[in-house]
Amino acid sequence: MKRIFSGIQPSGTLTLGNYLGAMTHFVDLQEDHESFFCIVDQHAITVPQDRLALRKNILSLAALYIAVGLDPKKATLFIQSEVPAHAQLGWMMQCVSYIGELERMTQFKDKSDGQEGVSSALLTYPPLMAADILLYNTDIVPVGEDQKQHLELTRNLAERFNHKYNDIFTIPEVRIPKQGARIMSLTDPLKKMSKSNPNPKSYISMLDEPAVIKKKIKSAVTDSDPEIRYDEKEKPGISNLLTIYSLCSRKTIEELTKDYQGIGYGQFKEDTADAVIARLKPIQDRYHELIDSEELHSILDEGKDHAHHTAQKMLKKAEKAMGL
Ligand code: ADP
Ligand code: NA
Repeated sequence: MKRIFSGIQPSGTLTLGNYLGAMTHFVDLQEDHESFFCIVDQHAITVPQDRLALRKNILSLAALYIAVGLDPKKATLFIQSEVPAHAQLGWMMQCVSYIGELERMTQFKDKSDGQEGVSSALLTYPPLMAADILLYNTDIVPVGEDQKQHLELTRNLAERFNHKYNDIFTIPEVRIPKQGARIMSLTDPLKKMSKSNPNPKSYISMLDEPAVIKKKIKSAVTDSDPEIRYDEKEKPGISNLLTIYSLCSRKTIEELTKDYQGIGYGQFKEDTADAVIARLKPIQDRYHELIDSEELHSILDEGKDHAHHTAQKMLKKAEKAMGL
């Protein structure tokens, strides 16, 4: 069975972008892959986090992983900081990374641009991410479009290490979905939807109440031409809503554009919101059952043990290869 690994940062409440671009695929892939899904809290602290909010977001993400349909009997769910091999191999991967290639990462440029006191960890985030993936002999990494560049770097670092020391790492492949790989912000459809955006109107949180979802979609930025058709360049706002509607309703974009011929944006937005609400409802119900349960903690404990046991083997190989 092929192995998959992916991680999500507990840096806020997950968005519809995280769900459609990443999590839905995790659920499909767990059926025929050996799967590891991580809560990457050490990545989250590369920018300042409030201590209590971070703790809450970690558990909230764990509950959402399960609520969307990840099954702890099939997939290993765990917290990155509870498995020390991540930080240990992360350091070793920093030692094979060049500052220049890290400075060229667009996520680093975006997140550091105009900021004072940028942490050095924001720069060295990609070697830690490489370690996350390489520790598990990962074959496939399912992620959204924004992670493509980091994945290319991971492959480069793995190849460099294999060449320089010993051929121990599997070179992972990136798996980006055909549709939904880049769900856009509702307030600025040229930017990706992100949970770390300070404006909550820009994203739909997976835990937003129906009335909030309606309001956010109603005020989503579109254009003045009333036609509902898919055109990312000319009509990025409507195209984004079409993608969201399509993925939440499982109707194709062609079907939707046909259905909405001659119908205005008002009705279209109303129906898009209904599709999102219906898709999130069972996830939210399950989330509320799980969030304060003992079950959640025992799932994370089991995940930690299994991840630790697996990761430790690769860490030892890497240490040996480097002469540590
Ligand atoms: P965020 O940018 O919201 O903080 P993360 O960096 O934690 O998200 O990413 C978690 C996963 O969700 C990654 O696989 C990432 O590619 C995917 N993802 C994040 N935002 C989007 C989006 N707007 N559309 C599609 N996938 C996304
Ligand atoms: Na991100």
